[in-house]
Amino acid sequence: MMNYETVIEQAKQFAWEVFAADSSGHDVYHTLRVHALTRTIAAEEGAQVPLAELAALLHDVDDHKLSPDTAAGKDRAVAFLRGQNVPQEEICMIVKIIDQISFSRNTLPPDTLEGKCVQDADRLDAMGAIGIARTFAFGGSHGRAMHDPLGQDGGSSIAHFYDKLLLLKDRMNTKTGIRLAQHRHAVLENFLAEFFAEWNGEK
Ligand code: ADP
Ligand code: NI
Repeated sequence: MMNYETVIEQAKQFAWEVFAADSSGHDVYHTLRVHALTRTIAAEEGAQVPLAELAALLHDVDDHKLSPDTAAGKDRAVAFLRGQNVPQEEICMIVKIIDQISFSRNTLPPDTLEGKCVQDADRLDAMGAIGIARTFAFGGSHGRAMHDPLGQDGGSSIAHFYDKLLLLKDRMNTKTGIRLAQHRHAVLENFLAEFFAEWNGEK
């Protein structure tokens, strides 16, 4: 008899194994944060929490940057869930959730409540203090300038705030996500105000 609590524990373990070898910028702690936040959002939204949790823990294991060959079929996630004796119907639901949230080019919001929760959690992890830290970590590892006021570099970390991070608060799916995004958005704006004040020698 399959027990979701056990499968979720195993999925955490699986994420540790998968991301141990990762150098694409997706580390296991991103997955663990998305999982923790998904629990919070899914519970408040009245979603099916275990399904949302498993989708969160598996949402990046078949990411096309990390695992291009398995991305289309979500092969690693499916193999893991089969190995845990999760019923086929639930595997389909989890894969559908992962599929809906993992296409950044996908403009349609997920059509399941669980998908909406996981997508909000994933986007919230690019906002707030963590979002700021991830952005400069990403920029540094790709040799990008911190800030490029003359626009010569085109891909500075500060530019990424305007290209992506500041747009996320209007892309939330759930009431809970919208509420959490308000605060994280304010953290981004406060940071930018401080950054430019210091950059210009005003403080
Ligand atoms: P996701 O987990 O949604 O797939 P990405 O792989 O696109 O996220 O990015 C990982 C992290 O790096 C995110 O926090 C994102 O905001 C940040 N990031 C992505 N592109 C850039 C960029 N050009 N400059 C700075 N940070 C970036
Ligand atoms: Ni993610």
